[in-house]
Amino acid sequence: MDINTEKTASEAIRYRRSVRIFKEESLDTEKVKECIRLATLAPNSSNMQLWEFYHIVSNDMLRQVSALCMDQNASKNAREMVVFVVRKDLWKKRAKANAENRKRLFGNKDFKEYTKREKSGINYFTKVMPVLYMDFFGILGCVKWIVAQVAGIFRPMYRQVTQSDMRIVAHKSTALACENFMISMAAIGYDTCPMEGLDSLRLKRLLKLPYGAEISMVIACGIRVPEGIYWPQYRVPFEEVYHAK
Ligand SMILES: Cc1cc2nc3c(=O)[nH]c(=O)nc-3n(C[C@H](O)[C@H](O)[C@H](O)COP(=O)(O)O)c2cc1C
Repeated sequence: MDINTEKTASEAIRYRRSVRIFKEESLDTEKVKECIRLATLAPNSSNMQLWEFYHIVSNDMLRQVSALCMDQNASKNAREMVVFVVRKDLWKKRAKANAENRKRLFGNKDFKEYTKREKSGINYFTKVMPVLYMDFFGILGCVKWIVAQVAGIFRPMYRQVTQSDMRIVAHKSTALACENFMISMAAIGYDTCPMEGLDSLRLKRLLKLPYGAEISMVIACGIRVPEGIYWPQYRVPFEEVYHAK
C-alpha cells in the first residue's frame, strides 16, 4: 500500500490535529497497521528500538482502554487505539539483535577476521550498549555519572548516563515513533489524538506488560467530524522559539 499518494509530508503535518470526536465509520485496520509499521521506521537512539505497539481493535478492549484513559472524549469516541510502549527493559535483546544483524551484514566469520571498522560496528552493541544500559538499582548509573562529570572537565563528554537519563532516551525515541504514526495516519486522511492522561499502572496490567515497561502514549484513531477539532491550532509566535546562531 502506497500510503503517501494522498498527501505530501508537509500536507500531512498541516492536516494532523488532535481530534476528539470521530465519525461512526470504522477504519481499515490493515491501513492502521501499515501506519504502525511506518512508526517503526522512526529514527531512534542507537537503533535499539526499545518500543512496542499494541493495536487495540476489539470493542471489548477499546472499552477497557478507554476507561483507563478516564473515558476522555478522544478515547471514548475512538474507532481503534494504539498503545505506544517504551521497553527499555529489552535493551539486551535489542542489542543482541543489532549485533547479529551487523555480523550477518559483514558476513558471519570468526571475530578476529572482521576489519577494524566492522569490529567497532559490532562492539558498539556488545560493549558500548551494555555500559550505557546496564544498571543495578540506579547505583551503576550514579557511578557512570560521576565518571562522566570528571572526564567532562577535560573534554566534551556524553553525560546522559543515569537510569532516568536512559528512560528519557527511550521515551524520546518512542515519541518519534508516535509522530511517524500520526503523520502517516494524516497522510491517508485518518485522524488521531495522542493521550497521556491515563492510568498507566492499570493499563500495563491490562496489557500484561512487565514491570520495566512504560506507557509513552495511547493514540486514539478515527476519522474527524468538524466538531471533533475543538479550536483552531495555536502556537506561540515562531520568533519566540526560533533562534539562529
Ligand atoms: C504527549 C502528549 C500527551 C497528550 N495528552 C492528551 C490527553 O491526554 N488528552 C487530550 O485530549 N489531548 C492530549 N494531547 C493533545 C494535545 O493537547 C495537543 O497536541 C495540543 O493541544 C496541540 O493541538 P494539536 O495537536 O491539534 O496541534 C497530548 C499531546 C501529546 C503530545
